[in-house]
Amino acid sequence: MEGQDASPILYVNGKRHVMPEGKAEQTLLAYLRGLGLSGTKLGCGEGGCGACTVMVSNYDRAKGEVQHRAVNACLTPLYACEGTHVITVEGLGTKRGGLHPVQTALAHAHGSQCGFCTPGFVMSMYALLRSKKTKPTELEIEEALGGNLCRCTGYRPILEGFRTFARNAPDSAYSGETINGSDSTPICPSTGQPCTNGCGDTPAAKALGAAEDDPVTAVREPIFPPELKRRVPTPLALPGAIATWHRPTTLAGLLALKKAHPDARLVCGNTEVGVEVKFKNMKYPVIVAPTHVPELTEVTIAEDSLVLGASVTLTTLLNTCETLTLTLGPVRTSGLVAIKEQLRWFAGPQVRNVSSVGGNVCTASPISDLNPLWIACGATFEIESLDRGARRVAARDFFKGYRSTDLKPDEVLTAVALPLTEKGEYVREFKQSHRREDDIAIVTAGMRAKFDVVDNVPTVAEIAFGFGGMSFKTVSCPKTSAALAGKPWTDETLKLALATLPKDLPMSPDVPGGMCEFRRSLANSFMFKFYVDCCRRLEADGLVTDAVYSAAGLDEADLSAADRFHRPFPRGAQYTQVRDGSTVGQPTMHQSAEVQVTGEAEYADDIAKPAGMLHAALVLSTVPHGKILDIDPAAALATPGVHGFFSAKDVPNNVIGPAVLDEEVFASEYVTCVGHPVGIVVADTQDIALEASRLVRVKYEELPAILNIDEAIAADSYHTWPGFTDHGIEDGDVDAAMAECEAAGRVVEGDARCGGQEHFYLEPMVSLVWCGDNDDLITISSTQAPQKHQKLISSALKIPCNRVVCKTKRLGGGFGGKETRAAFLNVCAAIPAFHMRKPISLVLDRHVDMAITGQRHAFLGKYKVGYSPEGKILALDMMLYNNAGNSLDLSAAIMDRAIFHSDGAYKIPNVRVHGRCCKTNLPSNTAFRGFGGPQGVIFAEMWMDRVARKLGQPAEKIRHVNLYEEGETCHFGQVMESSQLRACWDEAVAKADVDSRRAAADAFNAANKHRKRGIAATPVKFGISFTALFMNQAGALVHCYLDGTVLVTHGGVEMGQGLHTKVAQICAAELGIETDSVYIAETSTDKVPNASPTAASASSDLYGAAVTDACRQLNERLAPVKAQLGPEKSKDFKEVCTAAYFARIDLSAHGWYTTPDLVWQWDGTKGRPFNYFCFGAAVSEVEIDTLSGDVNLLRTDIVMDCGDSINPALDVGQVEGGFVQGMGWVALEELKYGDPDHKWIRPGTLFTAGPGTYKIPTANDIPLEFNVTLLHNAPNPRAVASSKAVGEPPFLLANSVFFAIKDAVCAARAGNGLDTDITMDSPATPERVRMACGGPISDVFYDSTNAPVYRAKLTC
Ligand SMILES: Cc1cc2nc3c(=O)[nH]c(=O)nc-3n(C[C@H](O)[C@H](O)[C@H](O)COP(=O)(O)OP(=O)(O)OC[C@H]3O[C@@H](n4cnc5c(N)ncnc54)[C@H](O)[C@@H]3O)c2cc1C
Ligand code: FES
Ligand code: FES
Repeated sequence: MEGQDASPILYVNGKRHVMPEGKAEQTLLAYLRGLGLSGTKLGCGEGGCGACTVMVSNYDRAKGEVQHRAVNACLTPLYACEGTHVITVEGLGTKRGGLHPVQTALAHAHGSQCGFCTPGFVMSMYALLRSKKTKPTELEIEEALGGNLCRCTGYRPILEGFRTFARNAPDSAYSGETINGSDSTPICPSTGQPCTNGCGDTPAAKALGAAEDDPVTAVREPIFPPELKRRVPTPLALPGAIATWHRPTTLAGLLALKKAHPDARLVCGNTEVGVEVKFKNMKYPVIVAPTHVPELTEVTIAEDSLVLGASVTLTTLLNTCETLTLTLGPVRTSGLVAIKEQLRWFAGPQVRNVSSVGGNVCTASPISDLNPLWIACGATFEIESLDRGARRVAARDFFKGYRSTDLKPDEVLTAVALPLTEKGEYVREFKQSHRREDDIAIVTAGMRAKFDVVDNVPTVAEIAFGFGGMSFKTVSCPKTSAALAGKPWTDETLKLALATLPKDLPMSPDVPGGMCEFRRSLANSFMFKFYVDCCRRLEADGLVTDAVYSAAGLDEADLSAADRFHRPFPRGAQYTQVRDGSTVGQPTMHQSAEVQVTGEAEYADDIAKPAGMLHAALVLSTVPHGKILDIDPAAALATPGVHGFFSAKDVPNNVIGPAVLDEEVFASEYVTCVGHPVGIVVADTQDIALEASRLVRVKYEELPAILNIDEAIAADSYHTWPGFTDHGIEDGDVDAAMAECEAAGRVVEGDARCGGQEHFYLEPMVSLVWCGDNDDLITISSTQAPQKHQKLISSALKIPCNRVVCKTKRLGGGFGGKETRAAFLNVCAAIPAFHMRKPISLVLDRHVDMAITGQRHAFLGKYKVGYSPEGKILALDMMLYNNAGNSLDLSAAIMDRAIFHSDGAYKIPNVRVHGRCCKTNLPSNTAFRGFGGPQGVIFAEMWMDRVARKLGQPAEKIRHVNLYEEGETCHFGQVMESSQLRACWDEAVAKADVDSRRAAADAFNAANKHRKRGIAATPVKFGISFTALFMNQAGALVHCYLDGTVLVTHGGVEMGQGLHTKVAQICAAELGIETDSVYIAETSTDKVPNASPTAASASSDLYGAAVTDACRQLNERLAPVKAQLGPEKSKDFKEVCTAAYFARIDLSAHGWYTTPDLVWQWDGTKGRPFNYFCFGAAVSEVEIDTLSGDVNLLRTDIVMDCGDSINPALDVGQVEGGFVQGMGWVALEELKYGDPDHKWIRPGTLFTAGPGTYKIPTANDIPLEFNVTLLHNAPNPRAVASSKAVGEPPFLLANSVFFAIKDAVCAARAGNGLDTDITMDSPATPERVRMACGGPISDVFYDSTNAPVYRAKLTC
């Protein structure tokens, strides 16, 4: 435009930037991080975690308004941001300059632990506030966070913090005055005041904006830059390394481009293309963005249809549907309601805000959520080309094959026309996925029926279906539609529909994606729901009387089958005790909270890189077991920008291992899993290194692979290392007791299985390594075990430990996953650093991290349990197997803990339990919160549940009968001392009001055939200490400075759990100063040597005690000084330190602690492996949809024994976070590897390697009512400050969810006349839940000849 600067520009945090040249392939995230704005994090790179959320604002010239939206910077192409204003977390507030209210709310609600997800949450909330014209509702807040994952907090504090911005919030973040402002007035998120400046339009606001010239330190509300309002979009053609980015601004321009470049890729939201480029390595030389073509962004409502331009975003579609349903009324908008409801569960807001209607249609995904609805609604697609003009295609004829459509190369989709509905016409959407929020469907469907009603009988005038997830493309069901046309809506017609639908939707048992029986059952279940729904709507609309139900063979109890899932905003209460008069016991905010909410907190990959740093990428095995025949790096080395390739021959000592030496840094002769490192490529950039790593040719002779526990048992394939493996414990006389029980017919026997679990720390693994003169190496790593890095690097490079320093400041989550496996990666990075004497950075992509770094072990337990008529467990005989993977790693210790915890929380007089670690060709499995304890305990609860059902008693009654009493002895000889087990149980059961709620659940179940409620109470007993006794030692350094401040360094790592905050509180209490005066900077092997990993929940105990020891030494030295200063002056620690200094007193102390009284040998003798036990209890109630397998967690009540809590806020955070992570393990998260049960996946390969396929809980999964009590008045005599450990034990509380689900499933089975003594494997995914419920719809698809109960396939 005339007078307009032709350079492509964007604004970032108020500062103008000219777009860099040659970056057509660059994402906004890479650009922002390149600017030094490292608050925006890379968590996954595929739009699945929200860690990269930023707000993008643009000026809508047609509407004359500024629009704000949250987007995922990892999928947003940089050039797509031309002419926009990007706000990152740094644009809001800073610790020095003051926090933004959104940041303050999150920090004060204790909503950040590791903090890696935190900037993303801040930006999602901020964008919601900016984009709304009125204050948001609580539900809008929850929905706005649907695309953000947090692995630490359990979401409750995040929701609670942000709830204060809701219009109906009781405790507003703003002043009462402000929150009472008119609902129609926009609220300024910075001040909380009603906006009077037209969103940054006033001269004052402009002045504010003009004052901002530094994007990194901007602290005030960024206004929308006036230049961008004036700027008229122009066509762009911006080149990149491979691609050219075109942005036409007219339809003719778009069509001309498509004619000139038939292979051009259209890119709207890039949420599909971005994933293809990253994960399928697709290259598109010509990219055309149709986002600025006016015809494609229009929404028009005609007489009988809604016409949507192809570039209309899904958020606009959602808002349009919402508005039109109000203005046009329900008769005309049945289709729009269905689309709106479907979009609620379509991706997260960041994806919906950018992705387009046309992008979804043209991707032609077989699991698209909208395409089935377009088909069912009879939509038409408008298509245009320059040469042939426009044409229309019916949606049902558009999809030709797997991701292929009727579009010719020179054509574009211009619009979708959706017919409005008429009286007696009903549309309904269906979707079942692994997780409700932000997940692609397993099966998704749209159904529409139009009825003629004569004499109170509804007859099908027209019926149409669209199904996704049932074939290689979205399909209509012509046979079913034809069969049903003209039929009355009766039971007979339903039977016909259920019999015909499978003919339209055939599926082979080894279908890609698996779950054949479930998917077929779902399709028919959806049909049944639609049938019920139509009856309800016909009656509600007054078209028929309620006689329709009896004609349809339905009764009252059937009707809830058709309910849509809606739930209110979650609530919760926390009951804690705060100690008086000490820094210990206070709910102090996490030391890093303020820098986490502002994005200033530095993680390993955020640290300013030294000049000359090179980037590395691993070359990984693609076969599960093979002999290496040849490695040829020539093509990789020939790539410009590549500096070297290193393999086994370059490692001075290639043999390493954390417990036993059974691994290699790089495979030399054999690879033993997919993802086994074979070498490492070093290049100028990470992208070049990754590209080159794919060019290294490795030839293998493939060998037979063992992929699961059953195969390992059959092949006798175990890790056997004397002293480490094949342990067992025997107590009492199992054979005699079992024989007695068997004679009386009181034995349950079976095999229990639980799957593994991915850690899914939000920050993927990072290693930075420098090699100095004298071969001294410094490494910064995201690790829980710096000392292990030091040791393994020293060993691999044959250099002494005193030349290797490993540092870590904070982790973006660890959960055990960054204990040993991080060290191996660090060694890989150290090899090129050592040889090249160059700084090396190795950052794993999320999917690589998940595929190669191991997980929680899947376990199999073969058990036999004898019990008394009262349900007392008399004998347990158990053999445990874990899937250890290709090396031993920590698997033996993990098995040991499973053996210790296989009694659950129950006194069993006769126990025999042994364990073996299966050697398989999967990546080595490793530590994960609970370390084998959860597997041992869930098996105990599985057989306990069966015993209760055999006896026909509520499970909580039988559990209670068996709980340990004070003074009783465990199977390994440790006595229950100061046990709080029964106190926790009694309080939890009472608080949850289990008896009356069980009665209410029974009443609900009687009134609902297809929804069932279940309730369960489960206890926790968890031993605290490393079971390798030598590891129970800790050191700390305490330095006092002359200004009265104190620097503490200890061996523990801060990974979000608040260890540093607690240690600071303890130190402050010991020295009699404020917590703020104590600082803990980092963990480093040159400060505190030989530290044990931060693991086993023991770190607060260990380092708190070590710091206490140091402080006591200091206090002893300072006592005479204080005496001399007198009581008044001694209150000022600065005075004390200064006086001590002048008196030449050492103001530094080294503290030391070893856990006392531990005794344990694996020689058959009994002992005391644990310092003490943590106790707890939880009660959960769920509601399941027996037709779809969907689970809704209604309420959880927890009572947890944390001793006298050092910091109740942090402890509640650990309890809630641990519980929700555990809930993920038992109810949501499923790892799927290519194995004999998953033949559609390449052998040994992890299919679920990313947030797209692996589903951790979201905010929508947490209990609707979530009450947590830290047991009051329960001091622990055996740990620092009378506290107890809290990291791992709460994870086990989630068993209550699993058994509540099982309880509901059993209610469904009872309703279907089926046996309730069933084995249900963990996790209780929708597939397991649906299929275990059984019933006539699913029975058709399951051949029960060999096994009466369906057991879904499980990678185990
Ligand atoms: C985290 C995440 C979650 C997701 N969840 C879901 C989900 O729940 N349900 C679901 O169905 N999908 C889901 N998807 C898939 C995807 O986001 C959607 O299909 C989305 O609608 C694609 O739109 P887009 O504008 O981003 O497409 P783009 O990636 O920009 O384009 C996709 C394809 O469409 C073509 N195209 C775009 N516009 C036109 C046009 N006008 N004419 C011709 N061709 C065109 C492009 O060339 C390209 O091939 C998800 C994706 C992500 C990353
Ligand atoms: S990093 Fe962008 S969504 Fe995960
Ligand atoms: S605080 Fe959310 S992932 Fe750690």
